[in-house]
Amino acid sequence: MSQLHIINHPMIQHKLTIMRDKETGSKDFRELLKEISLLMGYEVTRDIPLEEVDIETPICPTKGRIVSGRKLAIVPILRAGMGMVEGLHELVPVAKVGHIGLYRNEETHEPVVYYCKLPEDIQERMVIVTDPMLATGGSACDALTMLKKAGCSNIRLMCLVGAPEGIEKVRMSHPDVDIYLAAVDDHLNENAYIVPGLGDAGDRIFGTK
Ligand code: PRP
Ligand code: URA
Repeated sequence: MSQLHIINHPMIQHKLTIMRDKETGSKDFRELLKEISLLMGYEVTRDIPLEEVDIETPICPTKGRIVSGRKLAIVPILRAGMGMVEGLHELVPVAKVGHIGLYRNEETHEPVVYYCKLPEDIQERMVIVTDPMLATGGSACDALTMLKKAGCSNIRLMCLVGAPEGIEKVRMSHPDVDIYLAAVDDHLNENAYIVPGLGDAGDRIFGTK
């Protein structure tokens, strides 16, 4: 069974509380999401492989450890997952980026695929899928299935806020994928929005409503 990692560091909780506030505007919302993504990135990459290298300090030759090769890919679920890419990219600048476009049908809440562009060598990389909201889990499950069809076998899902329903669905459908969250919220409302949540993440990032 996959592991559920709740990263509830005080700085993350502080920033998340400001993001939840409906008075917080798009500029601050985007900046906070980027900052939290970088902080969560430390935990998501905690066990990334290292390799030993020979270097010389100004004093003497020595051995050091560096991140092994160019082995990471970040795959945001469009649109809102885009808001988490920059923070992760600051942490791992050589990571390649793929994009999966999904939107939820407003009546059925079922995800609809409209775009997929992945790095050619994605199956050789550890993949971090990003999406701030894990609500019913439908979008995340479809994105994970698409990545597995593309040959990926080492995938992590990094979200900000999750509902118990979505967490359960991903864990049942993709037991090999670890989930990283800053908070587990209470439930979904009748429109499949997370309660208390933070509203529509895509609209708040891009100012579309
Ligand atoms: C939101 C969010 C997730 C999805 C979560 O995207 O960013 O991708 O809903 O819901 P689920 O777990 O029930 O599938 P949305 O469909 O609103 O698209 P957008 O990011 O383009 O606004
Ligand atoms: N998508 C969002 O952006 N917010 C939710 O609460 C649920 C789905």
